[in-house]
Amino acid sequence: MRSLDLLKGQTALVTGANSGIGRAIAVALGSAGANVIVNYVANPADAEAVAEEIRSGGQRAITALADVADEAQVQAMFAAAVLEFDTIDILVSNAGMERNAPFHEMSVGQWDAVINVNLRGAFLCAREAVREFLRRGVRPGISVAAGKIIFTSSVHEVIPWAGHVNYAASKGGLMLLMKSLAQEVAEKRIRVNSIAPGAIRTPINHAAWSTPEAYAELMKLVPYKRIGEIEEIGRAAVWLASDFTDYIVGTTLFIDGGMTLYPGFETGG
Ligand code: BGC
Repeated sequence: MRSLDLLKGQTALVTGANSGIGRAIAVALGSAGANVIVNYVANPADAEAVAEEIRSGGQRAITALADVADEAQVQAMFAAAVLEFDTIDILVSNAGMERNAPFHEMSVGQWDAVINVNLRGAFLCAREAVREFLRRGVRPGISVAAGKIIFTSSVHEVIPWAGHVNYAASKGGLMLLMKSLAQEVAEKRIRVNSIAPGAIRTPINHAAWSTPEAYAELMKLVPYKRIGEIEEIGRAAVWLASDFTDYIVGTTLFIDGGMTLYPGFETGG
């Protein structure tokens, strides 16, 4: 489904774009007319397949290997992207991971891995994007904003998550990174927002939906009584990156089938 060329002439960099939600966002931005840099850190063939899918729709796309937690690699990726496409209009800072453990057993390695990718990575990528947006300013006829940043957050930016303290801490931190940055750069016409998915069918939560028993348990947390699909996140990202939403600044868009609505209160209270 094409999205009316909403992002025609723009270039988007999507981190963690070789699988799951990132992949769907990259493809959706491409089908809305954007050129796309498909960032990945593992499985290059998957990244190449995403780029090829975008190219087959008529847009330009390249892959970019970079660990978002590594400052030098992030800077090199942005430099390569600007060299190829002249500038970047949209950053979707999406790369994220889980390393779950009971709190008393959580290793420093598990803590650091999640915080480094989910939070430090968001900082490093957003900083490079803001630098490029400030350098370039508004491009009349392309977008009324100087740039757009969308973070892939989670319902766990507000829902506590036992057994996943590192992940919830990273997303809670991301919420105030997003809002504080949005406040700081709004006057430069840079729009910063987050998308907060709930339970979406991806590899990261495979165990939560892949058996009927697990799926039934999961549905106790979802008032809308179905899992979300990655394309639903992709379409929202297109909209949030487009000038249709130019007055949306510093907001988290929850896409969660009502998971944040205290589903325990469907019957209790
Ligand atoms: C997590 C998933 C989880 C979902 C809802 C996401 O942020 O990555 O594993 O299913 O939140 O709890």
